[in-house]
Amino acid sequence: MADCCLSELAEKIEAVVKEAGRILINAVRVEETVEEKSGRANFVTAYDKRVQDFLFQKLMKILPDAVFIGEEEEEHAALPEGYAFIIDPIDGTTNFMKGYCVSCISVGLLQAGKPVLGIVYNPYLDELFRAEKGKGAYCNGKAIHVSDHDLSEGLVLFGTAPYNEELSKRSFQCAYELFIRSLDVRRSGSAAIDLCNVACGRAELYFELLLSPWDYAAGSLILTEAGGRIVNTEGKEITFDEKNGVVAGNEKTIKVWQEIQKA
Ligand code: IPD
Ligand code: CA
Ligand code: CA
Repeated sequence: MADCCLSELAEKIEAVVKEAGRILINAVRVEETVEEKSGRANFVTAYDKRVQDFLFQKLMKILPDAVFIGEEEEEHAALPEGYAFIIDPIDGTTNFMKGYCVSCISVGLLQAGKPVLGIVYNPYLDELFRAEKGKGAYCNGKAIHVSDHDLSEGLVLFGTAPYNEELSKRSFQCAYELFIRSLDVRRSGSAAIDLCNVACGRAELYFELLLSPWDYAAGSLILTEAGGRIVNTEGKEITFDEKNGVVAGNEKTIKVWQEIQKA
């Protein structure tokens, strides 16, 4: 797609995502709508489904040829050679259920299996992160960059891979190893927000041992367009057609992660 068309599309998608943010802000009696999903402490609310339906209706009008892959769908389409939206209607559902106000909407647009556009919107802070392939990353229209601090001067964000109990011990062991080499650790409850916070230099490293593509499809592009690096937990390129462990930061902080894994 030509640059101008992608930017025009991005404007339209951004407007839709912002509108969807109203659904989170205006949500009432969320707890009454909670259902359990498979895995430990994994929930979905009526609002996750409502946001997904809203995005499906609006995004498919903007780009009718695209395949739509949304977390809360019963079945997920395979990644096509053409365009695909990979969306997480609410990233941070447990926070949302609890009224913790750290959740976002994440929309990635992929072409031939790779992200070309990423939008992550946190309606509680009215912060919209956006990146187009090759054009840098922005937060509310202002260019953002990853931090170049060493880990010893940095903050580490991590996700606990909460739906996969077998990874809990290793997650906390990694977090401990990083904690003693950094200023401190944080756990927000939203992978997409974590990636954006590394992208804009609020933190120096993020890791989570297992995520789904909708958790990082948009955030990974925002991170790389902000000058950051993202790899899987084996240090290889992340993929978007299966689950991946994810490590994101600058070259120096990723190196520390890799040294810890070898020890
Ligand atoms: C979850 C959040 C959380 C992360 C989990 C994700 P959800 O997404 O991003 O921070 O630790 O691994 O699955 O279920 O709230 O969309
Ligand atoms: Ca998610
Ligand atoms: Ca979700």
